[in-house]
Amino acid sequence: MNPNSELGPALQALVARAEQALSTSLPQAEHSPPELHRAMRYAVLGGGKRLRPLLVYATAQALGQDGPQLDPAACAVELIHAYSLVHDDLPAMDDDALRRGRPTCHIVFGEAMAILAGDALQALAFELLADDATQRIDAATGMAMLRALGRACGAEGMAGGQALDLAAVGRKLTLAELEHMHACKTGALIRASVQLGALISGADADTLQALDRYANAVGLAFQVRDDLLDVEGESAVIGKTAGKDAAADKPTFPSIIGLDASRARLAELTDDALAAIAPLGRPAALLQELAHYSASRKH
Ligand code: IPE
Ligand code: IPE
Ligand code: MG
Ligand code: MG
Ligand code: MG
Repeated sequence: MNPNSELGPALQALVARAEQALSTSLPQAEHSPPELHRAMRYAVLGGGKRLRPLLVYATAQALGQDGPQLDPAACAVELIHAYSLVHDDLPAMDDDALRRGRPTCHIVFGEAMAILAGDALQALAFELLADDATQRIDAATGMAMLRALGRACGAEGMAGGQALDLAAVGRKLTLAELEHMHACKTGALIRASVQLGALISGADADTLQALDRYANAVGLAFQVRDDLLDVEGESAVIGKTAGKDAAADKPTFPSIIGLDASRARLAELTDDALAAIAPLGRPAALLQELAHYSASRKH
């Protein structure tokens, strides 16, 4: 199933732009060491909804900005995301064999190469942002972007959230603990994607705050939807093994508050996201579309 068939034409065009930029940014498969480069390209290319790059582009467009200076930031957030998935699927973590409708990176390339591919993708993300910072945007903005991405993927962001996720297996979390875990493991990078788009566009403090409220709501909604799809989805459609959260005894929205309350929470989060960006008006149409998409997506 085409992972982008649920998006409108403007977002589909931005997916194509991200695909192109990602392919150019990654090392060539034939360059040494070829096995590592092939694993990196496998992990990033050929699938994925590209939500995080879309948020970079859509945020900048909401603020009247576009142009090639957005591409390194769009690639950086997707490279971090792809690395997080490679490590998330390892036997030491979720031990998954299916991702984006294909065997996971470690199944194809082995665990050692999958670990290294994740490491190298993370490093490449910062290298791309740093190159951009020195070439196309002012140094202070570049540093703020590097800091935002570092925070989002570190111990207080994605990696911290993954640690909370692993520590929570088999335990009964409160709803507040669950939301905190989701906000770290998934929300932080989604927030950073919006922040990078806003920083490049020179957003003022009020706009940054409104966009951050939007990103918080969308980030949480995206992971609530992920939890629901794990229960309600089919592997052939979602491209990963359905039912694995329950099998691994993971705390999720459906397991803690039930399916109906999870759906109600999704609706609430979508309303909050839309309310946050209402002052931006029509230029924020793609951000609105992404809020709806994050809460209703089928894969
Ligand atoms: C999957 O992310 C893991 C979560 C953070 C929920 P996505 O659902 O964005 O995965 P791809 O990139 O489309 O494969
Ligand atoms: C993954 O959450 C979050 C990150 C990779 C940071 P999940 O473990 O729920 O993601 P899936 O369901 O494997 O895609
Ligand atoms: Mg996981
Ligand atoms: Mg997983
Ligand atoms: Mg999941």
